[in-house]
Amino acid sequence: MSNIQVNLANRSYQVLIGSGKINYLPEFLSNKNYSKIIILTDENVAKLYLNSLISIVKSTKIAFHSIISKAGEGAKSFANLEEISEKILQYEIDRHSLIIAFGGGVIGDLSGFLASILLRGIDFIQVPTTLLAAVDSSVGGKTAINSKFGKNLIGSFYQPKLVICDLDFLSTLPKRELKAGYAEVVKSALIKDKNFFEFLEANAEKKFYSQTSNANSTQIDIEFLTTIISKSCQIKADIVSLDETEQGQRALLNFGHSFAHIFETETNYSNEMLHGEAVSIGIMMALEMSKNFGFITKDEIERISNHFKKIALPILPKEIRFNWNIKNLSVHLYKDKKNENKNLTFILLKKIGEAIIQKSVSYDDFLLAINKYL
Ligand code: NAD
Ligand code: GLY
Repeated sequence: MSNIQVNLANRSYQVLIGSGKINYLPEFLSNKNYSKIIILTDENVAKLYLNSLISIVKSTKIAFHSIISKAGEGAKSFANLEEISEKILQYEIDRHSLIIAFGGGVIGDLSGFLASILLRGIDFIQVPTTLLAAVDSSVGGKTAINSKFGKNLIGSFYQPKLVICDLDFLSTLPKRELKAGYAEVVKSALIKDKNFFEFLEANAEKKFYSQTSNANSTQIDIEFLTTIISKSCQIKADIVSLDETEQGQRALLNFGHSFAHIFETETNYSNEMLHGEAVSIGIMMALEMSKNFGFITKDEIERISNHFKKIALPILPKEIRFNWNIKNLSVHLYKDKKNENKNLTFILLKKIGEAIIQKSVSYDDFLLAINKYL
């Protein structure tokens, strides 16, 4: 199972997963009649891989330009959107032009949003180069930039035409980024697939973490990576196919994220806490809340926390910063876009492999869960 289909009627597309998959790009382009290709990437990915992508694109004889954005969350800003939009328009694109998003979730979210608004919508494809982008952000069509009022508040649902997840690009990913992406893999297993979680418990330490002893490079077990990315993408594809615009079940993918966003907001979405690190901490709090609602058991929570510990993902906010101000954290909670007025909604786990949307959660329920880990 290495190719996944996202079924969305005439907007369906494939996710190709494996080593060397980028070589499929010319075949995909051969019958599409694209007038021009814009490769959008960031400065880190450009240094490592832009030349090799360019040589593949060149072989198609389609005119192309590459644009290198600054790296990091700051790239998802109005200012950067404006700068890159103007650069792309300067290259005289038309409705048959294509954007290739070549990078992590930041480049994917920015490129997808640009594709959805330029000339009222042009095609784009995702070529994720981080584990987080491979297992989560490149699939499902959520695109966005950030506002001063919060993250991802300006965006669209806009599906790519193809996702090419070539695992060879992940070999240069810093170990910390790799682990952060892995938190989303655990999330996918927890919300939908107990067997997958058991597979991770049995294999991850040996095949994943122990192979990542050097902080700056990652020796990857390709077979294991293919499996965890395929499984995570399949779980996401199944959910998105049924609820593209998050009217219901798609919210399950946000398990652990309401807590995570609070900590990310408090740390200004900086490198102090990566998204995946906030997610492992957030999952622990969401599990505590699930237990308090009479769902998951203490033993199951311990099992999950042991798994995070084995992969050296944080489970306590203290592992990131010693002191947290609960008043600030509460303010961020109520700014979370998923909470209407004071009526809180959280994703909880009934048991490993089964998540539910819990409405009408009180502030006291929130405090009880967060204080257990603060
Ligand atoms: P990122 O794109 O900032 O990448 C992390 C860092 O790794 C960057 O410095 C980048 O330059 C570098 N990098 C990328 N590929 C590399 C490689 N192969 N080798 C070495 N370095 C590499 O961050 P991310 O974690 O991939 O994505 C985070 C973003 O994704 C956030 O903005 C978040 O909101 C978004 N997101 C979106 C969705 C969605 O559904 N659209 C889901 C989850 C997260
Ligand atoms: N990352 C959550 C979603 O795509 O819905």
